[in-house]
Amino acid sequence: VTTTRIPVTGGSPYDVLVGHDLTAEVAGMLPGADRVAVITDSAIADRAHLVADSLRQDGRSAELILVPDGEQAKTVNALAGLWDRFGELRMTRSDAVVAVGGGAITDVAGFAAAAWLRGVRVVHLPTTLLGMVDAAVGGKTAINTGAGKNLVGAFHPPAGVLVDLDVLETLPAAQWVNGMAEVVKAGFIADPAILDLIAADPAGAARPDGAHARELIERSIAMKADVVSRDLREAGLREILNYGHTLGHAIEQAEHYQLPHGHCVSIGMVYAAAIGRRSGRLDDATADQHRTILDQLGLPTSYQPDAFPGLLDLMQIDKKSRGSMLRLVVLDGLGKVGMLEDPDPGLLVSAYEEVAA
Ligand SMILES: NC(=O)c1ccc[n+]([C@@H]2O[C@H](COP(=O)([O-])OP(=O)(O)OC[C@H]3O[C@@H](n4cnc5c(N)ncnc54)[C@H](O)[C@@H]3O)[C@@H](O)[C@H]2O)c1
Repeated sequence: VTTTRIPVTGGSPYDVLVGHDLTAEVAGMLPGADRVAVITDSAIADRAHLVADSLRQDGRSAELILVPDGEQAKTVNALAGLWDRFGELRMTRSDAVVAVGGGAITDVAGFAAAAWLRGVRVVHLPTTLLGMVDAAVGGKTAINTGAGKNLVGAFHPPAGVLVDLDVLETLPAAQWVNGMAEVVKAGFIADPAILDLIAADPAGAARPDGAHARELIERSIAMKADVVSRDLREAGLREILNYGHTLGHAIEQAEHYQLPHGHCVSIGMVYAAAIGRRSGRLDDATADQHRTILDQLGLPTSYQPDAFPGLLDLMQIDKKSRGSMLRLVVLDGLGKVGMLEDPDPGLLVSAYEEVAA
């Protein structure tokens, strides 16, 4: 089976490789890096050991560094620990970081690399679906602080991304489904073929070993690569990636991050579709298709009926907002994205009826 190469262009170009058995490709993505810090967590340390071994076979010195699982990795403490290790390893400008893990690992390792000596190279090996189609591609890195989630970070595009499909063998189905929310988003905002693949085999699409898994991943990455190639720093176009995320982020906050990101975005997309429908921009069939497809994947499509006033407050202070005006990403049709600025409060309330359980 061949490896697919998806280029990300722009100021700091790099390749995303998708395929099997890609561990040995890491060294080639980091020419001249003598010391490599391989950052991972205990759940996927076996995979990271293979990566470190392959770097050593290439004559590099590779050190495995474990950080705590999940969001616990994205703390100031974990970051300080990484920089202490980089110091002990005497990592220089020409050395590099490799992240092996989900979005939490690629976020913290990417930020550690962005700031160490004001920037060393990082290669991401995402091991969750969300990591593959979203977190590892696009160059955003972040940690959480007392002030909130992802408020501190940097734009630091990787030197390369290796999407080794073999890592999916151990990925729990629930983690896969969580990432499918971003895949569905890619379908609605840019690539309706994704929605056709899911509709053709909804049960398969809900599993990492489904027949179309690779195509779903590649199409989603291609969409994100295209958007960030044209707009790395969220000057405009990149905002479309926020489809479903305005209400989604509000629900995440209201739930104190105990509800998975994909679940929140799923509800948020149903809401965004309702806004599109009720503002006369989106046809009924496409609006209805949101709920159908997300339901089929086992993602939630409704939320507490009395929660809207609180969610509206949270939406108004969403960090993606500019100033105090609410901006919502909406659809004018399948694959046609538009913006709704300063929406009518009555519309915001009435659209929530479609989400209220
Ligand atoms: N930088 C970005 O552009 C961006 C985009 C989207 C999300 N994110 C961030 O990504 C994070 C969420 O990422 P996530 O959903 O990948 O979750 P995660 O990184 O927290 O991983 C979830 C769990 O799955 C385990 N795991 C990972 N890969 C595995 C595998 N192959 N087999 C078995 N277990 C495995 C991990 O150990 C962890 O316990 C959030 O912090 C979010 O803010 C960043």
